[in-house]
Amino acid sequence: MSWQPRKTTLTRYGGWLPANPAVHKSFIQHLAQRSATAHRTRATHTEPVAKFQAAINADPEMVNLWSQIFLQASPENKITSFDQLLYHMDIIVVAPPKFHVAKDDEGNVIGEPIGVPMYLIFDLLSNTGAAYDLFRKPAFNTAMKDLLDAWGLYLTSPDSNKTLTEEEEGWFSPVALESLEANGRGNFNATYVCPDPDAVNRGFTSWDHFFTREIQPGVRPVHFPENKTLIHSACESTVYRIQTDVKDHDQFWLKGQAYSVYDMLYRDNIAQSFVGGTVYQAFLSPQDYHRWRSPIDGTITRAEIVPGTYYAVLPDAGAEVGDPDLQPGDPHGALIRSQAWLTLSSTRAIIYIQSDNPDIGLVAFIAVGMAEVSTCTISVQKGQKVSTGDELGMFHFGGSSHALIFGPQAKVTFADHVKVDQHLKVNSIIAQVSKA
Ligand SMILES: *[C@@H]1O[C@H](CO)[C@@H](O)[C@H](O)[C@H]1NC(C)=O
Ligand SMILES: *[C@@H]1O[C@H](CO)[C@@H](O)[C@H](O)[C@H]1NC(C)=O
Repeated sequence: MSWQPRKTTLTRYGGWLPANPAVHKSFIQHLAQRSATAHRTRATHTEPVAKFQAAINADPEMVNLWSQIFLQASPENKITSFDQLLYHMDIIVVAPPKFHVAKDDEGNVIGEPIGVPMYLIFDLLSNTGAAYDLFRKPAFNTAMKDLLDAWGLYLTSPDSNKTLTEEEEGWFSPVALESLEANGRGNFNATYVCPDPDAVNRGFTSWDHFFTREIQPGVRPVHFPENKTLIHSACESTVYRIQTDVKDHDQFWLKGQAYSVYDMLYRDNIAQSFVGGTVYQAFLSPQDYHRWRSPIDGTITRAEIVPGTYYAVLPDAGAEVGDPDLQPGDPHGALIRSQAWLTLSSTRAIIYIQSDNPDIGLVAFIAVGMAEVSTCTISVQKGQKVSTGDELGMFHFGGSSHALIFGPQAKVTFADHVKVDQHLKVNSIIAQVSKA
């Protein structure tokens, strides 16, 4: 079978939503077909899904909110009940993400990565008032975390290597490689450390091993490391927003979703150091390198993981006029449009780095876990000295976002190429700081 190699055109939703809506639709249809018999015969759920179901059923308010979600969801949503959703989840949590091959409206065969399959089934459901209430409940997120942890454990098992093939649904097929190498990421073998570059699976022993792959020394150099006024990109990512003069508390629910540093930093007094400062946010696509690198030279003063939501979004009326990818009013992708808000609601890792340069001062790095990216691993400790480009930690599976917060003492001037929707390499120069 041959299919049209297709460049990812969705810049703003980079790899979260398939570039071609036909792939998303077909993926959901396929799940419905594959789960139809199990649903009809009311087959036993997989263990993680059965636990999730029991946790929801134990709380009548959660059960009720689920029924409202299905009533409120856009007519484009094809998942019609909580039961059906559970049977879809059964398929997802025992398998690695893969490429999905579908036909577009003209009958051309198209293939695209489904890097975040669980997100695709939650996408339209999350964009409802009832989901906004349910998905922010701590009991819901505890149940979700258990489910995602069980899937995450599977993804570190040898069985999860089964999509690391060159078949049409594998991650090393020609089309898959094209998408992994797009945006100037570079030739796969040359860019990433492959334990066995001659093997089809490149020697990765599990999906997680492949996902958290390390880059080759020298492919993402830190330019001008001797210049202590420069800020380097902490993640391979696409610029989402830059905001100056951030407030301690802001009305984040208003259109524009201003940042609120107090909430972003988990309501810690340390937020005082950042009021009036600058926030830079950029997101990672499922195809990107998923480790975080220090943007500056300095000392880690604190590093912690804070609990939060996984699939909660700010419900909206769909894509706005001027969205580069979606038609105005398209209800898909609210998670991506909610990214500023996710910096204060999502499960996240927060790392504070005291710069060696007093003009930069204290910098907060926030790794925002989005959707199934529930696992942030921090690899530095309080008191540790880091140089620009040193590893700080990593995300496991899916995609995600990150933010850097600078205090008001730092006058941050961003480089000309640092523009919204621009994809940037990790360690590249993003800004220069002078005394405010
Ligand atoms: C997965 O790993 C097993 C060994 O655990 C190996 O025999 C098999 O070939 C691998 N499959 C793929 C597709 O990488
Ligand atoms: C990368 O490695 C694979 C597996 O050995 C090989 O088939 C392929 O030709 C290599 N590609 C490049 C560009 O070196």
